[in-house]
Amino acid sequence: MIKIYPSLLAADFYDLKKEIKDIEAADGMHIDVMDGHFVNNITIGVPVIKSIRKHTTKFLDVHLMIENPLEYIKVFSFAGADSITFHLEVADDPLFVIEAIKCMRNKVGVSIKPETDVPDLSVLKAVDSVLVMSVEPGFGGQEYIETTDEKIKKLAMIKKENNLNFEIAVDGGINLTNAKRVIECGADVLIAGSAIFNEKNRKKAINKMRG
Ligand code: DX5
Ligand code: ZN
Repeated sequence: MIKIYPSLLAADFYDLKKEIKDIEAADGMHIDVMDGHFVNNITIGVPVIKSIRKHTTKFLDVHLMIENPLEYIKVFSFAGADSITFHLEVADDPLFVIEAIKCMRNKVGVSIKPETDVPDLSVLKAVDSVLVMSVEPGFGGQEYIETTDEKIKKLAMIKKENNLNFEIAVDGGINLTNAKRVIECGADVLIAGSAIFNEKNRKKAINKMRG
């Protein structure tokens, strides 16, 4: 069953309570943390996640687009993250980062930018999810990069051949036109910001996206 995580980056932060209520039909929510170094933007941090956690039992999927993930695992875990995803590009020793996240009893995800090839088998065996970026990380509202399809298919094949359990999540430019195709390529989780929050009826958009 496909999971849909709306990306809060596209929500109205002045009315976050209502925005989160509005996405009840989703399986969780995706929270983009950016540090102004790994990407050219600064977004949500620990206090916001803490506040959200107090008021929802929904799955909080925290996407760290930051340079030193190891330094921040504890604080994001204590803030209430369910899953913590870091970028492969900033980890000299990804298995060490994975273990550090597991130690906090969090689900662990590894993310790859559009130019980055799929992670090694050792990493794929250790993670709960692989977050495939289908846009350059940093901003919402960009267009899906078509070559991502091949990367999703490649990951799905490796997963099948090795009998692995990680989820394939796809993040960036997902909309009602391409969602079906991305699912057919092998995605288990769709992350969508603008395609959900720009709609008046978020419930309808979420359910349509499931196909
Ligand atoms: C991009 C973020 C995405 C983004 C998706 O750096 O990681 O999660 O919010 O937004 P849309 O769906 O608008 O492309
Ligand atoms: Zn994201």
